[in-house]
Amino acid sequence: MAKKAAKRASGDRRTAGRRTVRKPRVVRETQRAAAGPRTLAIDIGGTGLKMLVLDPHGKPVNERGRIATPQPATPASVLRALKTLIATQPPFDRVSVGFPGVVHDGVVKTAPNLASSWQGHDLAQALRTATRKPVRVCNDADVQGLGDIDGKGVELVLTLGTGLGSALFVDGRLVPNLELGHHPFRHGKTYEELVGKAALEKSGKKRWRKHVREALAQLDPIFNYRTIYLGGGNAKLLKPSDLPKNARITSNEAGLLGGIALWR
Ligand code: BGC
Repeated sequence: MAKKAAKRASGDRRTAGRRTVRKPRVVRETQRAAAGPRTLAIDIGGTGLKMLVLDPHGKPVNERGRIATPQPATPASVLRALKTLIATQPPFDRVSVGFPGVVHDGVVKTAPNLASSWQGHDLAQALRTATRKPVRVCNDADVQGLGDIDGKGVELVLTLGTGLGSALFVDGRLVPNLELGHHPFRHGKTYEELVGKAALEKSGKKRWRKHVREALAQLDPIFNYRTIYLGGGNAKLLKPSDLPKNARITSNEAGLLGGIALWR
């Protein structure tokens, strides 16, 4: 009984303490801004839209939020869905976006797994208007790679998701918008046609894993990378026996964590 009463009393004190020392919102916001900018990291995928906020050191400050990519995935429907998810996020000062296609200066050039109306769409400007914050947009595999790499020698990143993303780095410097996925691979098909999500669903896991192994065997003597990183939602389907010594499976969250690097 005495213990319970003591616990209750200390709980009350803590609550009371919290109430009395709680700073006004404007003070908390000023202190947060002084600690450095927070980045809203957004990953636009063919299947899901994901986001979280990173602290000034690139550490997540909240749980990742996700909603299904609306279909058809037009600029209007995707932006509407993004705004809904953004409204649930903690405060942020700037925005980084990984987009599943070629992006030049914030403007979309290709979007093979979204609606064709994305071509020419100024995504950076649309999000600047929506959030009133500075926005940087890059290819999704490039952002993922920035979250993965060691920054030494030649490093290649492949993302195994709806599409096949690729990113190439030399001593940490990005070669932007490498589109290996649409390069012919074998049997008249591209890499993406053989190891993308549609191929996995059509031919099953066993055949898909065989195609990933063949793709890795093909790419290694072309790029002679120190390390190849395999990310994206389907990388987890690979077994250690599928991987050469210089391959690493990376976290699916790297697609968001790399967002901080767009501001370096
Ligand atoms: C696109 C790439 C993208 C990849 C993964 C491919 O279809 O061409 O730009 O990185 O899908 O989303």
